[in-house]
Amino acid sequence: MIQSSSIGARADSLAREFLYTTEDFNRIADLCYERAGILLPPAKQDHVYSRLSRRLRSLGLKSFDAYLKQLTGPNGVEEQRQMISALTTNVTRFFREPHHFEHLRTEVLPELAARARAGGRVRLWSAGCASGEEPYSLAFTVLRALPDAAKYDVRILATDIDPEVLAAASSGIYSEGAAHDLPDWVDHTMASREPDALKIAPSVRRLVDFRPLNLIRPFPMKGPFDVIFCRNVAIYFDVPTQAVVWNSFIGVLQPGSQMYIGHSERPPHALVTRFTPNCITGYRLNDPDRPATSERRK
Ligand SMILES: C[S@@+](CC[C@H](N)C(=O)[O-])C[C@H]1O[C@@H](n2cnc3c(N)ncnc32)[C@H](O)[C@@H]1O
Repeated sequence: MIQSSSIGARADSLAREFLYTTEDFNRIADLCYERAGILLPPAKQDHVYSRLSRRLRSLGLKSFDAYLKQLTGPNGVEEQRQMISALTTNVTRFFREPHHFEHLRTEVLPELAARARAGGRVRLWSAGCASGEEPYSLAFTVLRALPDAAKYDVRILATDIDPEVLAAASSGIYSEGAAHDLPDWVDHTMASREPDALKIAPSVRRLVDFRPLNLIRPFPMKGPFDVIFCRNVAIYFDVPTQAVVWNSFIGVLQPGSQMYIGHSERPPHALVTRFTPNCITGYRLNDPDRPATSERRK
């Protein structure tokens, strides 16, 4: 007698280049959640097939079951990294959600620039930076507020789980079309608009340190950070994972520091009282010594 689950498994794989069952999808979804905190709901079953087919082809495999053996075998860690890279969405652009950069420039950077000029330390972090457009947009904005930033203790950390996007990011070279996202004040001293490429100037690149970092694991650095951009990353996590990541952020922020998140994201309910919203999806970590009552009234 044929089991109904095996009929299902065969139906799943019908007319596909590689054998792929719901069980394979579930095991991949579990691995992805465990490694990167990313949720893959059942509706993503076809998406996972199409994103991972290229990996199976290049490894010469015939089925997802064989691929799973590779993922969980002795050299599985490197292939798990490739899998996460294939399954994550790295879409980004320069000055995405431009109101955050404007808020940073007008409301946050004046105090930080004054601190830097007085010899203080200033740290910004683009967490989940993808191919680097976000941290370079931060660097342009910092240089607009503080043109001689290189003389001071000002650094931008840019991290992502995916080393491939980080390699592209640190090269500082983009397609010529990316220049359309740059405002006019980003002049040739910050980026050169060449016929076949947009190149970030070395003085801008020197402000940014690119590092691999998995946000769902304990952070290796202590901070403190004055500004964190973590936009369009936590959206792929479930609520408990979001709370873990936000608690980690609180651990490396100092009171009064600024967070910016993506337009469709919100701080976890349990932590909402720790922050005061001060612009569209922008939040200030409450400072017990400086209650933000005026901001609450806005
Ligand atoms: C859609 S991009 C967001 C890029 C940029 N922040 C923006 O808003 O334009 C999401 C990035 O989050 C990264 N990511 C996903 N899970 C992660 C994790 N657990 N730790 C660190 N980065 C992660 C992905 O590799 C991807 O580059």
